[in-house]
Amino acid sequence: MFTYADNAATTKLSENAKKAMLPYFDELYANPSSIHSAGQKIKDDINKARETVAEAINASSGREITFTSGGTESDNQAVISAALLGAERGKKHIISTSFEHHAVLHTLTKLKKQGFDVTLIDPDLNGIVPAEKISSAIREDTALVSVMYANNEIGTIQPIAEIGAVCREKGILFHTDAVQAAGHLPIDVQQQNIDLLSLSGHKFHGPKGSGVLYARKGIALSRLIEGGGQEKNRRPGTENVPAIIGLAAALKESVENIDTESEQIRRLRDKVISGLLAIPDTRLNGDPEHRLPGNINISFEGIDGESLILLLDNIGISVSNGSACNSSSSQPSHVLRSIGVPQEYIRGTLRITLGRYNTFEQADYIISSVTKIVSYLRSFSSVFKKDGEEKLHAV
Ligand SMILES: Cc1ncc(COP(=O)(O)O)c(C=O)c1O
Repeated sequence: MFTYADNAATTKLSENAKKAMLPYFDELYANPSSIHSAGQKIKDDINKARETVAEAINASSGREITFTSGGTESDNQAVISAALLGAERGKKHIISTSFEHHAVLHTLTKLKKQGFDVTLIDPDLNGIVPAEKISSAIREDTALVSVMYANNEIGTIQPIAEIGAVCREKGILFHTDAVQAAGHLPIDVQQQNIDLLSLSGHKFHGPKGSGVLYARKGIALSRLIEGGGQEKNRRPGTENVPAIIGLAAALKESVENIDTESEQIRRLRDKVISGLLAIPDTRLNGDPEHRLPGNINISFEGIDGESLILLLDNIGISVSNGSACNSSSSQPSHVLRSIGVPQEYIRGTLRITLGRYNTFEQADYIISSVTKIVSYLRSFSSVFKKDGEEKLHAV
């Protein structure tokens, strides 16, 4: 049974989003910068999409929304813009966490080389960064705090409204990477005291290569690349119109169904978690309660996670061992290390991320397949494990 359970890596495009996009590959192809009526119609449609996104996150207006190429670009632009604004006022200190996505961490590494001082806070052992830890790291010269809403590997949810309140009180800009949270957790940029926020369309059943950067009114964004005046001079280049339209449709649909969908996904998740924790020498990584509805990050002692993933793949189950963006790296996950997962468990980690289209039948299939394959892998010595894939049909 084909079972896609890698929804943190990407999601299937929703039918509604696809339908909304199709005319923009066909008759609605004019350039939104053209002054003729065909172009102006597209420009209006982009602005409607902007209002849809603004409404979904309770921004005060579509003018606070910039469309980008995805979560990576939004994170880069948010962090760089806030850093440069701080530097103009002599503030060159940035606070973030050690388990952010590399889109934030690698941007911070670059800023460090340019003379910024960066403090990375470790999450607690349950994968949560308490607001007090952020508060006590704040200095006179702090320009920006960047803390993700939910972690992409272990799914833990951060107290972003509290962190935002601490920042607001001290006049420090607050950015949150909400790429994994969108569509699953409520986002209200006003109530949650958020100044800058990143979204990625393909994580909530929108198209790949589409993203949003929310910047509260009055925050001047720096351009990452040079060119024309699109996106109010914040993001040059002819707009990816179908992607913008699809992102807005997918976000609207996700937000409208957030309660029922999250509840359904949470029930599937809890079933899989309790089924897999029945396997001996197994640990769930990250807080059991404060985690994304679909996230299961689980480690089995004494096996190689990659073999487990490949054997699952052979029987139609798609899961991963960490962040998809990082799967080519053989480095142990920086996220699992940041929460102190023991080395003998890190190797045997699976990230199963459930979503809108998963069923209870698939949950049962995941539990029975993982249980069989873990015991199969454990029954061999490490030398014998090398030809494990050939023996797949035995399980
Ligand atoms: C938390 C987080 N931030 C940023 C990104 C990057 O998003 P994109 O793939 O749209 O560039 C991802 C992608 O996995 C993510 O999980």
